[in-house]
Amino acid sequence: MNEIKIFSPATVANVACGFDVLGFCLDSVGDDMVIRKTDKKGIHITKIENFDLPFETELNVAGVSALAMYNAIDVDFGFEIEIYKNIKPGSGIGSSAASAVGSVFGMNELIGRPFNKTQLTEFAIKGEAIASKCEHADNLAPALFGGFTLVKSISPLQILEIPSPNDLFATIIHPQIEIKTSESRAVLPKEVPLSDAIEQWANLGSLVHALHTSDYNLISNSLNDVIVEPYRSQLIPHFNEVKQAALHAGALGAGISGSGPSIFSLSKGLETATKVKEAMAAIYSKTDIAFEIHVTKINNEGVKIIS
Ligand code: HSE
Repeated sequence: MNEIKIFSPATVANVACGFDVLGFCLDSVGDDMVIRKTDKKGIHITKIENFDLPFETELNVAGVSALAMYNAIDVDFGFEIEIYKNIKPGSGIGSSAASAVGSVFGMNELIGRPFNKTQLTEFAIKGEAIASKCEHADNLAPALFGGFTLVKSISPLQILEIPSPNDLFATIIHPQIEIKTSESRAVLPKEVPLSDAIEQWANLGSLVHALHTSDYNLISNSLNDVIVEPYRSQLIPHFNEVKQAALHAGALGAGISGSGPSIFSLSKGLETATKVKEAMAAIYSKTDIAFEIHVTKINNEGVKIIS
């Protein structure tokens, strides 16, 4: 096999109380990428569609993660990467992670899968880091593994797969403004009060338990972020109204998707998730801010081969 086409999914990181460690994978939103072996050695980005992103390998997220893997293998050929980007950069649904994951997943398939998913995440972290100016894997891990994942540690990298209740659906609204991850990290405090930390880790522990036991009430009670949301929500116009509208329409909980500006909610059942979609959309429809909105089930597969 010399060429592979893959789907690299969007993801929601943090999931309210799990800043930098928890994430889940979306089903119907993501990038397509083609990875091809070439005689010319090295990594070459040959096509980028839909967004203006750098073609220089060392400046491109997909290129940097690909290079990290390329430098770890000994081959007498190179790789071309075509990126059909559907996830807007700076949207908060793992645009850079999808690029970083797609290139290494595709290359690994073309050379007979010498690396496992945790090792692929190690390479992908290098690409993600040029976008967010720090190494974190809470978008990368769900994009690679699918479902919900928890990044237990970065060094050494340890990723835990967490089950998704069958009837859990996400509604994600993406106001068409850009918030760079590096900027939304800059507004965060360096220290947090112990009482907030206690509340946050109680919520994270109970959310993980609720996912394991399909306890939708406990999911709802746990989806609270007392540390990051108060700072970042100020960067997102109408955040509180959208969140309240989602809860009022029956969502289990809602919060900032990754570093924003997207806002996610989780619901039990497609019918409720669709009502939540209408309620969230109604808020931005009253403004001059354009938006996209998605309802998706949790994608338990992650990045996958299309052809
Ligand atoms: N955990 C990261 C953050 C995700 O919230 O900054 C965005 O890349």
